[in-house]
Amino acid sequence: MTDLTHAFPWAEKLSPKLLKSPWWIGHIPFAFELIGRLRPRAIVELGTYSGSSFAAFCQAAEACGAGTKCYGVDLWEGDIHMGSFDEALFREISGYMSANHPQTAVLVRKDFNAAVNDFADGSIDLLHIDGTHTFEAVKNDFETWLPKMSARGVVLFHDVNVNEQNTGPSAAKFGVRRFFDGVKGGYPHFDFDHCWGLGVLVVGPEAPAEVMELVELSRQPGFAAYFAEKGAAVSKRFADMNVPPPAHGTYAPPSLWRRAIDKVRRVLGADARAA
Ligand SMILES: C[S@@+](CC[C@H](N)C(=O)[O-])C[C@H]1O[C@@H](n2cnc3c(N)ncnc32)[C@H](O)[C@@H]1O
Repeated sequence: MTDLTHAFPWAEKLSPKLLKSPWWIGHIPFAFELIGRLRPRAIVELGTYSGSSFAAFCQAAEACGAGTKCYGVDLWEGDIHMGSFDEALFREISGYMSANHPQTAVLVRKDFNAAVNDFADGSIDLLHIDGTHTFEAVKNDFETWLPKMSARGVVLFHDVNVNEQNTGPSAAKFGVRRFFDGVKGGYPHFDFDHCWGLGVLVVGPEAPAEVMELVELSRQPGFAAYFAEKGAAVSKRFADMNVPPPAHGTYAPPSLWRRAIDKVRRVLGADARAA
């Protein structure tokens, strides 16, 4: 297999500081690499929840020194996949962000459709769509926010690889794969299968060469495996922390939390036991 270690300096040098839930964290090494290369001025996340992906964005943004602002948009009320939350969740995430990323993080407590009016057209370099995961909701999020994307813009879609096997019967509500497959042909793109999948769409015609290089590299054998392996190491760290399902509510019922941790352990298999 091609050794790609030297191709991804950001994924190699950064280590995540906040791991709060099992579902996104396997994409943190890729997020580090993408942000290091993109040097975005503004990152918007639709769906911040307890902050695992958002904190990683803030961390990478600060490391690359581009003066990035990161906006985490969420009502912190819950949705059809996650059940409902109480105020403790918002207090916790806002406390963490004020203490750790006061110059970088801005939490926007609004519905996505209302928050979009706070952003100028062409102003966002990186958009992460991770809110409600039905086909209709993802389509709405993409279409509503697309005019806000800059000429360098990249859009990420979490959960392009949700199925009955890795999520159980609630997988039937997820339409991210169908939406991503319908739109991806119009843009340079690639996607990952691990950690419930991440779709990457380069919507800006003037994306930096370093980002376009990722699109090229994604065709190489070993690319997906490199990020899956780096991601698995992060997931293993979380599994070893033995964090119980949070009291404020998560994907209901809590058995899905345990299922996610079990999946991490199964995927890691012998490596996890040996480590
Ligand atoms: C899957 S979670 C986000 C996970 C997060 N990115 C992470 O790393 O853990 C989805 C979040 O989107 C929020 N959400 C869903 N639809 C929304 C909407 N229309 N407006 C505001 N927030 C929404 C929910 O409250 C929930 O916190």
